Amino acid sequence: MFFKDESFNEIYNTLHKSLQNNLSVSFKVINPDIFSSKYAGEVVVVDSNKFIYRGYKSWVSLAEILGCKILTPKSIGNFVEITLKKLESNSFHSSSDNDKYGVDSEFAKIDKMQEPSFAYYYIDALKRANIYNRESILNLGINRGDEFRVIDELIGSSEFKSKRCVGVDYSKSAIDMAKDTFKDSAEFYCADINELDSLNLGKFDCLISIGTLQSSSLNYKSLLMELVQNYLNRDSAIVLAFPNCRWIGGEMVYGARVPNYNFSEMGILYSDVIFAKKYLQQKKYRVTVTGKEYIFLTATRIRSALK
Ligand SMILES: C[S@@+](CC[C@H](N)C(=O)[O-])C[C@H]1O[C@@H](n2cnc3c(N)ncnc32)[C@H](O)[C@@H]1O
Repeated sequence: MFFKDESFNEIYNTLHKSLQNNLSVSFKVINPDIFSSKYAGEVVVVDSNKFIYRGYKSWVSLAEILGCKILTPKSIGNFVEITLKKLESNSFHSSSDNDKYGVDSEFAKIDKMQEPSFAYYYIDALKRANIYNRESILNLGINRGDEFRVIDELIGSSEFKSKRCVGVDYSKSAIDMAKDTFKDSAEFYCADINELDSLNLGKFDCLISIGTLQSSSLNYKSLLMELVQNYLNRDSAIVLAFPNCRWIGGEMVYGARVPNYNFSEMGILYSDVIFAKKYLQQKKYRVTVTGKEYIFLTATRIRSALK
C-alpha cells in the first residue's frame, strides 16, 4: 500500500477496510523528517512527484482513531513504512471483578504518572493549587497512593511528612498497598466515600479526586457540594480530574465513553465539569480547566472572598 496524495477520507476508508480482516496494516508514505515546519495537507515535491505531507502526529492520531497502535516506522530512502496494529481488547473497564481496582487487577497495570498528558497536567494542577502551602490534603479514590507519591516527589519527603495527607478508597488491597508504601507519612482508610462522615476526618486545605467522583457508586453533584461545604477550610484548593479516555490494550485512548454509545461521547463529561466550575465560582473560587485525556479542574479561593 502506498499513499501519495490521497485525501484523509480515502486513507481512512482503505485502512479501516483492511483492518476488518487483518490484525495489522502496513503502508508507505513520504518520510516527514525530510521537511521542516510543514502542516498536514501541504503539497510537497520529491523527485518531481507530488505528495501530501503528513507528520507522525497525524499518523499516531489516525492509529488511535482506528483502534490501533503504531509500530516503529521503517525508513526506506525518502519514504517510511508505517504499520498499524490493532489494540488487544484487554481493558479494566469491562471487568466485573469485585476488586476491579485492586492490586491484582488489570487497572493496577496502569501507571498514569508515566503518561505525559496525564502527569504534566496533574503536576501543573498541583502547582496552581499551591500544594506546597496546603497543610492538609484529602484524596478520595486514592487507590494505591500514586497521586500522593507525586506530591511527595514534588515538595520533598520531609515536607510531605509534615502535612496531614489522608487517602480514602474502598479497595482493600489497594489501601493495604498504599499503607505499606507510605508507612506513617500518610493516613489511609479503606472505606466507602458514601460513608465518609463516619470517619470524622475534619476539614482540609486541599481536596484531590482523580477519576472517582463520577463513579456509578457515587452521586456526583450532591457529593461535590457536600465536600465543598463540610470538608474544606475557608482558604482551600480543589483538584479534580475527569477521564476523557479509555485504557485499552496498553494504551490510553482519547475520548470518554458512556453507556449506550459505541463511540466516544463527551456530553456527560462536559456537563459534569461545567457543573463543578459554576458551583465553585458561586462559592468564590477561581476555577481553571485544563488537560486532554483527563480534564483537570483546579480551584483556589479568591483572596477577596477570604476577608
Ligand atoms: C478509576 S479509579 C481512580 C484511582 C486513582 N485516583 C487513579 O486515578 O489512578 C477509581 C477509584 O475510586 C475508588 N472508588 C470508587 N467508588 C468508590 C466509593 N464509593 N468509595 C470508595 N472508593 C471508591 C475505586 O476503588 C478506585 O480506586
